[in-house]
Amino acid sequence: MLKLDISKVAPFVSTETINGLATRVAEAQKTLEDGTCPGNDFLGWLHLPSSITPEFLADIKATAQVLRSECDAVVVAGIGGSYLGAKAVIEALSNSFQWLVGGNGPVILFAGNNIGEDYLSELTTYLKGKKFGVINISKSGTTTETALAFRLLKKQCEEQMGKDVARKVIVAITDAKRGAARTCADKEGYKSYVIPDNVGGRFSVLTPVGLLPIAVAGMDIDQLVKGAQDMEQTASAPFAENPAACYAATRYALYEAGKKIEILANYQPKLHFMAEWWKQLFGESEGKDKKGIYPASVDLTTDLHSMGQWIQDGERTIFETVVSVETPEHELLFPSDDENLDGLNFLAGKRVDEVNKMAELGTQLAHVDGGVPNIRIAIDRLDAYHLGQLIYFFERAGGIHCQLLGVNAFNQPGVEAYKKNMFALLGKPGYEAETAAIKQRLG
Ligand code: PA5
Repeated sequence: MLKLDISKVAPFVSTETINGLATRVAEAQKTLEDGTCPGNDFLGWLHLPSSITPEFLADIKATAQVLRSECDAVVVAGIGGSYLGAKAVIEALSNSFQWLVGGNGPVILFAGNNIGEDYLSELTTYLKGKKFGVINISKSGTTTETALAFRLLKKQCEEQMGKDVARKVIVAITDAKRGAARTCADKEGYKSYVIPDNVGGRFSVLTPVGLLPIAVAGMDIDQLVKGAQDMEQTASAPFAENPAACYAATRYALYEAGKKIEILANYQPKLHFMAEWWKQLFGESEGKDKKGIYPASVDLTTDLHSMGQWIQDGERTIFETVVSVETPEHELLFPSDDENLDGLNFLAGKRVDEVNKMAELGTQLAHVDGGVPNIRIAIDRLDAYHLGQLIYFFERAGGIHCQLLGVNAFNQPGVEAYKKNMFALLGKPGYEAETAAIKQRLG
């Protein structure tokens, strides 16, 4: 089971202060369980893992198998909560050089998460002449980035493979009734999955939104769900045995003590996108009403050579949360060298991971000495089961923390501001007044 170590927070916030939040955390848990918190129509994620049936997983795996057998590449079109969970799990569980070594089914590509003309041109050029499928993911079915990518990909897929094959290899994951993606899926007869009404995008990785792309990538979704189910149980336990509750309380105590930025650090490059997923989960959930911890991330030791100086010596408003993997999947020894020009022969014969772990420990001590509280989250292995635990752990902790902060964890009103301006600037029908106002403002 995932382990949480908050002993390196003690120099900054006392254990009594953190334990003193146990009652408030229990109240927060109760408001989530009772559905009395703000945004309570979006609590479907809370007991989602335990509601997942073997039949549902079998259906996802059957659809994944169609895409795996028919396609050389599968493009996952989605943005924010409609892609980050899948991207995070696939990257964490794939060979670091998957696109070069191949051999595990279709290449998984992502689109619909930007408006880069070069990105989309290069993607469609790469797909020319290839057998490819599309998983079109959008809860609202109206998101510009995703809709743009889907227009291009649908047309190309139909032109290259014919309409009948395209119908087999395009899958829609969207609302049950509303939006362009639903209308299109029903009209074309695509296989489709519903994103439950009560699960918001950033909490949707354990719905078809995440599970289908992850299964297409050949990963074990049974184990992913099993890990989340086990953590769902643990996260309901009393404070002292509940890492999600304790992590939420520790974050809150640090925030109250003036630590406004949390840096999620990993020592495994494959976890880079887990941090991107985590940043959306925490950032979009709690950054409102002029409150919230700013979620940042670093890949270590890589970023010790770029951000290390700031973390060690910059403004002391940060704390660090390390996600550490106890045992790597491979074994590699530090090589000996006859000339020893770099003076590193004292490490010869040691596991590379031992060097990495000492880098982690040395960094932790240095950062604590430099005034940075440190939280450590350890998982045994980087596999589907432990990622499932980690995902639910963060979801539950984030949900609790938002109750402590007093914000609605499940809306994102701030995301609309850029869309309004973009549509006004582009002259979208219905935005005439906004277009006039923004033109006047820009002079
Ligand atoms: O968490 C969220 O709600 C957002 O990140 C959405 O997932 C994102 O904006 C994409 O929205 P949609 O799935 O409606 O296209």
